[in-house]
Amino acid sequence: MQDSNPIQVTTSIVTVERIKPEDHTCVLALQPHSHQLSYVASNAASLEEANENPACTSFVIRAHGEPVGFAMHALDEDDGNYWVYRLMIDARFQGMGYGRAALSRIIQKLAELPDCSCIVLGVKPENERARRLYENAGFQITGDGLGEHMLAPRENASNWPDP
Ligand SMILES: CC(C)(COP(=O)(O)OP(=O)(O)OC[C@H]1O[C@@H](n2cnc3c(N)ncnc32)[C@H](O)[C@@H]1OP(=O)(O)O)[C@@H](O)C(=O)NCCC(=O)NCCS
Repeated sequence: MQDSNPIQVTTSIVTVERIKPEDHTCVLALQPHSHQLSYVASNAASLEEANENPACTSFVIRAHGEPVGFAMHALDEDDGNYWVYRLMIDARFQGMGYGRAALSRIIQKLAELPDCSCIVLGVKPENERARRLYENAGFQITGDGLGEHMLAPRENASNWPDP
């Protein structure tokens, strides 16, 4: 991790915007490190899923206007929970606080939805970087499922620093 304190990477330099068709090319070019490929679906697969499933909403993450990552949230109609379904920062831009700022933005977006009582996500136990990020955001391990599901009560969104 770099020396910069992610809290000082204000969320105002990081934007999380709904993906437009013209963003697809740049999002498809974003990739995590090779050792992280098993942690997250490819952006190509995620865009395809978003295209087929109206419950998915996908976003391009930009820092200083430059595309640096991809995120997607989805409403699980079975349990009524909102999932942070994808979050990735391109390998070149990791460790700069962008993932944290983007997660903050996503939580804020979800917390504004009247039917969002909690936010859920899944993370592989060996994905320490992501686990630490989520734990610092108030997510707690539930330990069920194939990976480890983590769950954050809606009120935890207010713990995040203002953008
Ligand atoms: C997980 C991911 C989104 C984090 O984004 P990032 O921009 O690299 O993370 P940030 O710089 O914002 O740091 C966020 C937190 O991650 C952790 N972190 C960052 N760099 C780290 C490193 N080199 N080693 C361990 N933990 C690290 C820290 O907890 C950090 O917060 P802190 O400094 O307040 O403790 C990014 O690493 C990624 O895309 N990984 C591959 C895909 C993936 O695993 N997605 C999640 C699937 S569940």
